[in-house]
Amino acid sequence: MVAQRLPPEPKGAEITAPALYARRREFLARAGAFIGTSAGLGAGLTWLSERGGVSSGPPGTPPAPPPAPFGQASPWSPLTPSPFSVPRGEATAFDAVTTYNNFYELGLSKSAPARNAGSLRTAPWTVRIEGEVHAPQTVDVDDLTRWFPLEERVYRMRCVEAWSMVIPWVGFPLSSLLARVKPTSHARFVQFTTLLDPEQLPGQTSAVLDWPYVEGLRLDEAMHPLTLLAVGLYGTPLLGQNGAPIRLVVPWKYGFKSCKSIVSIALTRERPKTTWAAAGPSEYGFYANVNPAVDHPRWSQGSERRIGKLERIDTLAFNGYADAVAHLYGGMDLTQNF
Ligand code: MTE
Repeated sequence: MVAQRLPPEPKGAEITAPALYARRREFLARAGAFIGTSAGLGAGLTWLSERGGVSSGPPGTPPAPPPAPFGQASPWSPLTPSPFSVPRGEATAFDAVTTYNNFYELGLSKSAPARNAGSLRTAPWTVRIEGEVHAPQTVDVDDLTRWFPLEERVYRMRCVEAWSMVIPWVGFPLSSLLARVKPTSHARFVQFTTLLDPEQLPGQTSAVLDWPYVEGLRLDEAMHPLTLLAVGLYGTPLLGQNGAPIRLVVPWKYGFKSCKSIVSIALTRERPKTTWAAAGPSEYGFYANVNPAVDHPRWSQGSERRIGKLERIDTLAFNGYADAVAHLYGGMDLTQNF
């Protein structure tokens, strides 16, 4: 395994997928509209029911279902709004969220996952809940969406590559599922594993990473109310490129922690060997908390490029969720535990 597998921070136009760049004028118009409604990134955890502008996918990408306005025309409506959301008016456009992706199992470029997601069969789909739990079980993802009230959570998403989005996820707290399966007193970590099937995820035939993709959290991080299992975004079921049918979302950590297309959630005694931390331990830590004070060895983490906007913005400690999560790391040296 070699480090430096994520590309260096892209510059200028490279940051936006070609199809999106061609529609730059549309983005500019949207950015202007958002400036008028946004309460700003530092606004904290407030719920506003502003609606983000959306459109269908750009030419050349697979047709995507039209996103539903909040609370309407959703297969899951009514969705419960969440006090953990940032204003929906800040949301990145639907077509950017669904065509500018990292999902190495579906290709290494940002546009490849949307092009290649057709090979991923997302139904039927089961998730194994295993390891240190009193009620291990294999559950259909449809049952999961019936067990727990689905919420819309509009979260900031910050990639370690220094780009970011704001995404209106649909999902339920991981803590609800963990409470139901009852971790044993030995459980200290939670390990998430992506589907291993090179036929459906052809990128797994390349040795770019060790497959399957594995991520992990400490149990208290997993139980935190912000930690979400997402099954949709913009009111519609997740598309393959975004990690259908179920993925993790941990908004205060770099995006690589948010494991896609999950088939196993295992409670463990030992810290899981996670994919990126194993691939490049000096570059990608287990904690991966968004931290503008700790640069990536090859680029600054002090600022980020918000997809769809022109200007770079300052990166916030814990991606703006410090009030909610900083206490989890009391007494830890976050420059060492990066
Ligand atoms: N999960 C799997 N299985 N494979 C991946 O390549 N990429 C990660 C994360 N989850 C990845 C993954 C990275 S680096 C990021 S930034 C986010 O997914 C991107 O999520 P998005 O494409 O839905 O925005």
